[in-house]
Amino acid sequence: MGGAALLPRRPWAGRRVVLGVTGGIAAYKAVQLARDLTQLGALVDVALTRAAGAFVGAITFEAVTGRPVRSDLLAPGYALDHIRLGRDADVVCIAPATADTIARAAAGAASDLITAILLATRAPVLFCPAMNDRMYSHAAVQRNLERLRELGYGVVGPAVGPLAFGEGQGPGRMEEPDAIVQYIGRALEGTTPLSGRRVLVSAGPTREAIDPVRFLSNRSSGRMGYALAQAAWRRGAEVTLVSGPTALEPPVGPALVKVETAEEMKDAVTRELPGRDVLVMAAAVADFRPAHVAPEKLKKESRPGAIALEPAPDVLRSTRAARPAGMVAVGFALETENARANARAKLESKDLDLVVLNDATVPGAGFEVETNQVVLLDRAGGAQELPLLSKDEVADAILDRVVSLLQAR
Ligand SMILES: Cc1cc2nc3c(=O)[nH]c(=O)nc-3n(C[C@H](O)[C@H](O)[C@H](O)COP(=O)(O)O)c2cc1C
Repeated sequence: MGGAALLPRRPWAGRRVVLGVTGGIAAYKAVQLARDLTQLGALVDVALTRAAGAFVGAITFEAVTGRPVRSDLLAPGYALDHIRLGRDADVVCIAPATADTIARAAAGAASDLITAILLATRAPVLFCPAMNDRMYSHAAVQRNLERLRELGYGVVGPAVGPLAFGEGQGPGRMEEPDAIVQYIGRALEGTTPLSGRRVLVSAGPTREAIDPVRFLSNRSSGRMGYALAQAAWRRGAEVTLVSGPTALEPPVGPALVKVETAEEMKDAVTRELPGRDVLVMAAAVADFRPAHVAPEKLKKESRPGAIALEPAPDVLRSTRAARPAGMVAVGFALETENARANARAKLESKDLDLVVLNDATVPGAGFEVETNQVVLLDRAGGAQELPLLSKDEVADAILDRVVSLLQAR
């Protein structure tokens, strides 16, 4: 990767997260969660149930968070900790949440430090249930989870996957720490100008078949579009991501529609467009595709001299008439020459509100890298030059502009 090294990002500096850890096998994953939250800058106060202490020691959490860990509600010297922790929290997350703790919380009990904190807080609360699938599907647990939802608490997961003791693949596994971090992020954002807005993002390359095994494609990794979809969801939007083939994990929260060709990308975007407030087309859609797709694999011996190309569907242009009134439309331009003039021409010809210009000749910008350096061109003739940033930071800067455009409507 070219360009300057980026400083580690600490977007949650000073935010207070109370992490309640209860007595299940998945408590070991809470260590990773505590570490990830701390690395994002959050002040993480871990509260353990007595049972949790049988699975993971307080000292481990103290080492990864750099903060004291509390366990005992009735410890002399810490009499008001449950009130202080509950009052000061920006978010409370119970991960893993056992059936037992879920039952106590659903009943409004305050018999241990975690349930007492839950009554003392007015911050958003997330429960991440983790248990055997038969325990999870029991009517009592389901009823208690329903009660938690009625109380306004969020329930994250559980995931479906291998359970402890070789106990099958049912739902019951704690959601992965990466995903929980995103839910905590969304809770920390609270209500934002994007809350409830309907956002459509496209990402990744397309593949245009030459024969059944070969295709034309491009170097898009999808990272920029995935970062945008994730960031918009974190800010409270309802997001659909239409993605060409990528090696990336799906973002947490957005609905994902997978496509392969420019034609499929156009169809999916057209289908998803009605009722959207924002369209961000970060996909690198093929401009050309083979005019004929060979029905069988082309043989080496056939020595095909040239592949005839035809224009692929222009997704931005073809969706132009179908865009809902008032929609904010953002396109991307990747240029290697006359960058600004070409990007401005794209803004006009495709009737966009904002064009994000990547100059592929800038080290650290464009395809296949974690960073990007872009210029945001708007309809009023403005050009906002951003420094070299991580794609997450670029996504936030683009969304800040989208918010201003929405608010100006
Ligand atoms: C080895 C072992 C693993 C356990 N794993 C879980 C679990 O994953 N989920 C759960 O709800 N309970 C699990 N339990 C039961 C809880 O530890 C028990 O209900 C305890 O009272 C929970 O207390 P707490 O909610 O205060 O932490 C497990 C028990 C043992 C012995």
